[in-house]
Amino acid sequence: MPVLRNMPPSYILVMLMATSLLLIPFMAVSSPAPSNNTDLVALLAFRSQLSDPLSILRNNWTSDVSFCQWIGVTCSRRHHQRVTALELPDIPLQGELGPHLGNLSFLRALNLTNTTLTGSIPADLGRLARLRYLDLGDNNLSDTIPSTVGNLTMLQSLVLNFNQLSGQIPDNLRNMHSLRYLSLESNYISGPIPNFSFESMPALSHIYVQNNSLSGSVPSGIGSLLMLQVLHLNYNQLFGPVPPTIFNMSRIADMRLGNNNLTGHIPSNTSFSLPMLQILNLYNNKFEGPIPLGLAACQRLQSLNIALNRFVDVVPTWLAKLPQLVVISIGSNALVGSIPPVLSNLTMLSVLDIAFSNLSGEVPMELGKLRQLTYLHLSFNQLTGPFPEFLGNFSEILS
Ligand SMILES: *[C@@H]1O[C@H](CO)[C@@H](O)[C@H](O)[C@H]1NC(C)=O
Ligand SMILES: *[C@@H]1O[C@H](CO)[C@@H](O)[C@H](O)[C@H]1NC(C)=O
Ligand SMILES: *[C@@H]1O[C@H](CO)[C@@H](O)[C@H](O)[C@H]1NC(C)=O
Ligand SMILES: *[C@@H]1O[C@H](CO)[C@@H](O)[C@H](O)[C@H]1NC(C)=O
Ligand SMILES: *[C@@H]1O[C@H](CO)[C@@H](O)[C@H](O)[C@H]1NC(C)=O
Ligand SMILES: *[C@@H]1O[C@H](CO)[C@@H](O)[C@H](O)[C@H]1NC(C)=O
Ligand SMILES: *[C@@H]1O[C@H](CO)[C@@H](O)[C@H](O)[C@H]1NC(C)=O
Ligand SMILES: *[C@@H]1O[C@H](CO)[C@@H](O)[C@H](O)[C@H]1NC(C)=O
Ligand SMILES: *[C@@H]1O[C@H](CO)[C@@H](O)[C@H](O)[C@H]1NC(C)=O
Ligand SMILES: *[C@@H]1O[C@H](CO)[C@@H](O)[C@H](O)[C@H]1NC(C)=O
Ligand SMILES: *[C@@H]1O[C@H](CO)[C@@H](O)[C@H](O)[C@H]1NC(C)=O
Ligand SMILES: *[C@@H]1O[C@H](CO)[C@@H](O)[C@H](O)[C@H]1NC(C)=O
Repeated sequence: MPVLRNMPPSYILVMLMATSLLLIPFMAVSSPAPSNNTDLVALLAFRSQLSDPLSILRNNWTSDVSFCQWIGVTCSRRHHQRVTALELPDIPLQGELGPHLGNLSFLRALNLTNTTLTGSIPADLGRLARLRYLDLGDNNLSDTIPSTVGNLTMLQSLVLNFNQLSGQIPDNLRNMHSLRYLSLESNYISGPIPNFSFESMPALSHIYVQNNSLSGSVPSGIGSLLMLQVLHLNYNQLFGPVPPTIFNMSRIADMRLGNNNLTGHIPSNTSFSLPMLQILNLYNNKFEGPIPLGLAACQRLQSLNIALNRFVDVVPTWLAKLPQLVVISIGSNALVGSIPPVLSNLTMLSVLDIAFSNLSGEVPMELGKLRQLTYLHLSFNQLTGPFPEFLGNFSEILS
C-alpha cells in the first residue's frame, strides 16, 4: 500500500481497523452457507401454476441469472435476495394464484392487473405485511375477497376491479389504516358498504365500488373522510336517505350516486358545501325536494346529472353562472316554469336534457348561440313556439 507510506502511523492504524470491519460482512455473504431462498421458491411455485401462453416467464425466468434480474421482479437493495415488487401488468399468465406469494414477506408492490388470472384470491396474501400496492384488476378472479386482506395495514392501493368477485366487502377492510385508493368496481359484490370512517382510514381519497350489487344505506362514516375526492357508488342497490354530511366535504370532485334507490332531501344552502365539485351524478334515484341551491356555489361544476328523480323546482337561473358546465341533465323531474334564456351564457354546454317535465313557455331563441351543443332533449313538456336555429354541430336534437 504505497499511498499510506507518508501518513502518520496512528492514521494507518485507524484505516486498517476500518477496512477489516468492512470485510466482515462481505465474508459472511460469500461464505458457502446458503442464502435465504424463500423468495426463489415462492416465485417458482407462483410460476408453476401459470400456463404462460406467450412463454414470457419461461424464456426469462431462467436459472443462469439471479431472480432479482427476472422480468417483473424487483429486489431490495438492503436485504439481498428479497423481492420487493412483482409487477407483470398486461402479460397473459393464465392460471391461478397459489398461496405461495404469501411467502414474499418483503413485498411492497404486487401488480398483476390484466394477466388473465382465474380462481380465487388466496387468503395468504393477507400475510404480506409490508404490501403497499395490490392490483389484481381486469382478471377473471372469482369467489369472495378474503377477509385477511384487512390485515394489510400498510396498503395504500387496493385494486380488484373488473373481476367476477362475489360475496361481501369484508368489514375489516376498515382496518386498512393507510388506504388511499379503493377500487372494487364492476364485480358481483353484494351486502353493505362497511362504515369506512376518518378515524380508521384517515387517508382514503378514492372509493370506486360502482357496478356491483351493494345494498343497504350509504354509511355515515363516509361523510367523515376528510381526504375524499372521488366517491363512485353508482349502479348498486343502495337505498334510503343519504347521510347529509356527504354534501359538506371540502375535497370531493366527483360524486356519483346514480342508479340506486336513494331517497330524501339533499341539504339546503347552509349545510351544502362542495367547493371542489366537478361531477355530480344522482341520476335515477328517488331524491326529492328542491334542486340543492348550494350547487350555485360549485364554480368548478362541469357535469350535473340529476335526471329521473323527484325534484320539484324551476330550471334554476343560477346554472348560467357556472362557467365550466358541459352537461346539464335534469329532466324527468317535476320541473315547472320556462327555460331561462341566460342558459345561453354557458358557452361550453354540450348536453342539455330537460325532457319529461312540466316546462311551459317558448324555447328561448338564445339557445341557438350554444355552439358546443351536441345533444338537446326537451320533449315531453308543454313548450310552445318555434324552435331556434342552431349554429352548432348536432349529433342529436330531440324536440
Ligand atoms: C428466510 O426468511 C423467511 C422469512 O423472513 C424466514 O421465515 C426463514 O426462516 C428464513 N430462512 C433462512 C434459511 O434464513
Ligand atoms: C429478462 O427480462 C429483463 C427485463 O426485461 C431483461 O433485462 C433480461 O435481459 C431478460 N432476460 C432474458 C434471459 O431474456
Ligand atoms: C390487457 O392486455 C392486453 C395485452 O395483453 C391489451 O391488449 C389490453 O388492452 C389490456 N387491457 C386492459 C384493460 O388494459
Ligand atoms: C412458505 O415458506 C415456508 C418456509 O420456507 C415453507 O415451509 C412453506 O411451505 C411456504 N408456504 C407456501 C404456501 O409456499
Ligand atoms: C374472462 O373469461 C371470459 C370467458 O370465460 C373471457 O371471454 C374473458 O376475456 C376473460 N376476461 C379476462 C379479463 O381474462
Ligand atoms: C399496475 O400497473 C398498471 C400498468 O402499469 C398501472 O396502470 C397501475 O396503476 C398499477 N397499479 C397500482 C396499484 O399501482
Ligand atoms: C388476519 O386476518 C384473519 C381474518 O380476518 C384473522 O383471523 C387473523 O388473526 C389475522 N392475522 C393477523 C396476523 O393479524
Ligand atoms: C359491470 O360489471 C360487469 C361484471 O364485471 C361487467 O361485465 C360490465 O362490463 C360492467 N359494466 C360497466 C358499465 O362497467
Ligand atoms: C359510522 O362511523 C361514523 C364516524 O366514525 C360514526 O359516527 C357512526 O356512528 C358509525 N355508524 C355506525 C352504524 O357504526
Ligand atoms: C328499487 O326498489 C324497488 C322496490 O322498492 C325495486 O323494484 C327496484 O328494483 C329497486 N331499484 C334498484 C335500482 O335497486
Ligand atoms: C361542514 O363541515 C365543516 C368542516 O368539516 C364543519 O365545520 C361544519 O360544521 C359542517 N357543517 C354542517 C352544516 O354540517
Ligand atoms: C350572461 O351574459 C351576459 C353578457 O355577458 C351578462 O350581462 C349576464 O349577466 C350573464 N347572465 C348570467 C346569469 O350570468
